[in-house]
Amino acid sequence: MNAITEARHLHATISADPTTEELAAHWMPFTANRQYKSAPRLLVAAEGMHYTSHDGRKVLDMVAGLWCVNAGHNRKPIVEAIQRQAATMDFSPPFNMGHPAAFEAANRVIAIAPPHMKHVLFTNSGSESVDTALKIAIAWQRARGQGTRTRLIGRVRGYHGVNFGGTAVGGIVGNRKLFGALVAGVDHLPSTHLPEQNAFSRGQPPHGTHLADELERLVALHDASTIAAVIVEPIAGSTGVLIPPVGYLERLREICTRHGILLIFDEVITGFGRTGEAFAAQRYGVMPDIITCAKGLTSGTVPMGGVIVSGEIYEAFMQGPEHLPELPHGYTYSAHPLACAAANATLKLYADEGLFGRAKAMAPTLEDAVHTLRGTRHVIDIRNDGLVAGIELEPRAGAPGRRAFDVFLECYRRGLLIRTTGDIIALSPPLIVEESHIAECVDTLRAVIAAVD
Ligand SMILES: Cc1ncc(COP(=O)(O)O)c(C=O)c1O
Repeated sequence: MNAITEARHLHATISADPTTEELAAHWMPFTANRQYKSAPRLLVAAEGMHYTSHDGRKVLDMVAGLWCVNAGHNRKPIVEAIQRQAATMDFSPPFNMGHPAAFEAANRVIAIAPPHMKHVLFTNSGSESVDTALKIAIAWQRARGQGTRTRLIGRVRGYHGVNFGGTAVGGIVGNRKLFGALVAGVDHLPSTHLPEQNAFSRGQPPHGTHLADELERLVALHDASTIAAVIVEPIAGSTGVLIPPVGYLERLREICTRHGILLIFDEVITGFGRTGEAFAAQRYGVMPDIITCAKGLTSGTVPMGGVIVSGEIYEAFMQGPEHLPELPHGYTYSAHPLACAAANATLKLYADEGLFGRAKAMAPTLEDAVHTLRGTRHVIDIRNDGLVAGIELEPRAGAPGRRAFDVFLECYRRGLLIRTTGDIIALSPPLIVEESHIAECVDTLRAVIAAVD
């Protein structure tokens, strides 16, 4: 090593109390880089409901990492399955080859999916799942002789990841405005957020069914013969936990069916037990044609996502020469052996420990606890369903998002990890959460919210 490369190499290691230079190279995603690097928060270990911070503190994880560690951190059966797989076979090509863990993972997903859903195509993230689902929807319409159906309908305040399709159908202006025209032929339903009528709802809010009728307006505007699919999150997570109003998803389903439009549920957050059922489709009793998932599929341990489709969709593609791929789509790391090993161990653990049922059983405890924050200074709304809750704060005048960010920083200092989006605090704990964790979290929140400006 010459002097320069040696200096760079030395520089690559991160000290216990990292300097700004040590942190400079990593352009952190969806992060206030300048703020973070001036006062870094590093996590160095995790176990069960807790992280360990770089300054040696235990931090209660009330967001399951990033809505994904549903089984809790560093669960032994999952860790060991990944270790075994890494030592047995590192990689297997996913195109025209397969490995047993991939087929097992698909069978395990289909076993807990709604009964009409029969096949799953694996991806590596929620964003990839969404773009895959949108492509499948357009291609399916064409496969059944409806090739003019190429429009995609999303929803205001929807979040569907960061790839071009998902950004286009997403409804968050801050995520869209920098990136040009995105994908052509996209329109949006209105958000289901009606704070005037629905503030402090417990479970599904009573008002807002009529907002699904906006799809009729879009059909009247564009004509059904141009629309391939509608994509919504059953619960909008990233824009601050928006629970579907009573009857809304049912109405959307009915209008889609009447007009030959596919209904896609983006269950990247709501999948794998978050609502007390395997999928929110089952929680709300509304069956989509396609489900996108990721996160909880491997409990966040190895990147993996999936697009789950009905038998009818898959069968429409099974035509043409038998030696050619029916769907020209997939990723080098689709059904990666490590991800499949993680998924199989995770899905088995969910079943062995009855964690979806546990989420359902703990949901009323979370609901009761978060609603005790009503009346705390700055709190203007609280909403929840399953093991997910949103607490909305009045924005500080002239500084939207700053108040909740201050709450986030102070909670972390006091040993609690939450997630904030705008001025909304989101909670989505691992499904192993106990009453004492919920109490600790809400007590800390109460003190911190009351203390911030
Ligand atoms: C509903 C939804 N869709 C898609 C995504 C994107 O997933 P990923 O970050 O794995 O690409 C997310 C991430 O939070 C999500 O909540």
